[in-house]
Amino acid sequence: MLSRRNGILFIEDVSTIYLAQRFGTPIYVTSKRQLEKNVLAYKDAFPNSEILYAVKANNNLAIMKIISKQGFGADVFSAGELYMALLAGFSRDKILFNGNSKSEEEIEMGILAKVKFSVDSTDELRTINEIAGNFGEEIEIAFRVNPEIDPKTHPKIATGLRESKFGIPMEDAVRAYELALSLENVKPVGLHFHIGSQILETSPFVEAMEKLEKLFFELEKIGVKFDFIDIGGGLGIDYEGKGAPTPRDLANAVIPVFEKIKSNLSSKPKLWLEPGRSIVGNSTILLTRVNAVKKGYKNFVAVDAGFNILIRPVMYGAYHRVLVADKEGEDEIYTIVGPICESGDIIAKDRKLPKTEKGDIIAILDTGAYGFVMSSQYNGRPRCAEILVNGEKAVVIREKESFGDLIAKQRIPEWI
Ligand code: LLP
Repeated sequence: MLSRRNGILFIEDVSTIYLAQRFGTPIYVTSKRQLEKNVLAYKDAFPNSEILYAVKANNNLAIMKIISKQGFGADVFSAGELYMALLAGFSRDKILFNGNSKSEEEIEMGILAKVKFSVDSTDELRTINEIAGNFGEEIEIAFRVNPEIDPKTHPKIATGLRESKFGIPMEDAVRAYELALSLENVKPVGLHFHIGSQILETSPFVEAMEKLEKLFFELEKIGVKFDFIDIGGGLGIDYEGKGAPTPRDLANAVIPVFEKIKSNLSSKPKLWLEPGRSIVGNSTILLTRVNAVKKGYKNFVAVDAGFNILIRPVMYGAYHRVLVADKEGEDEIYTIVGPICESGDIIAKDRKLPKTEKGDIIAILDTGAYGFVMSSQYNGRPRCAEILVNGEKAVVIREKESFGDLIAKQRIPEWI
């Protein structure tokens, strides 16, 4: 999706210099072509599976609509995500309501929307049963089970370790499913796990399935019939240009194990997946303008996007490749910093870049996943716009916020 034309960085057939001029900076710019390519890669690799896009990665309605149109379902982690997923056209029978701490209001909304639930505790199970009973509904559920796997990723995004807050311990699973079978308004139809994010090997997925194999048989013995086994999301992407497994690699690793488990089960579950990052991550760049270049202890390039716009480098020490829109080369080593009043506001450390000046446009790559969705208004900075590019076309898919948006929900009591 990215190319150089006469030295200028293009996304599809649109110049990044033009985009920055026309829409201002900072802006997130998404390539429709790349997004569709990623969606098709999953469809091709998993033709008999249900693919639930993890809405948390990027909940822009236009982006989600491109994904829902390809028949994907959605993994939602809050009532707000459920609301947006329904608006974006995801079909309710392919929506799984995830979450480790759902409020009664959220559970009620999920029940009224008639989606399936991934249940994180027996407390939650009882709440769902009670609320479903009030509405005369029977809700299909899976438990999220913690397979205790180390996915070898950043500790903040490893979710299936023994000490993780997510899921029920494996040793409690049979009891939890027994309880579900005994309750009138819930029906266990699946099992769910998710071991972490930005996983660069396929072996942890296989390991998790193998670890749970015995449990599936035990659960069938007590009367559970599986419609699906959901192996979560987590496939990593190539942030550093060092390679990453593709959906095809994941399929080659997990489908044979899944088929083997399935052949020994009396129910015939479908394989479900919940990719987020690997669908949207590399479809988007963040364009930011250089406000100042300063030589100090280090060479600093101060840009207009900080951790208010992209928090990943600060929060996870994440690496994002950086390009200057109309220059190439490796003249200097720069540290790119944002405008936020915190010394930790560093987007990219010690990067070899062409000689950079005030006014240059810098592209930060692979920012489609956990980019805009994790942005904030910190330091009184309105959130930025999002743009979708399709061939030569570029349109706004989220307007930049105004100063009015900074105060829109604030109230000053009259007694002040
Ligand atoms: N399913 C569940 C239950 C999840 O918790 C997640 C991500 C996914 C699916 C999608 O995982 P993915 O395919 O995107 O790796 N903000 C962090 C990532 C947090 C991931 C949270 N859960 C980051 O920027 O790296």
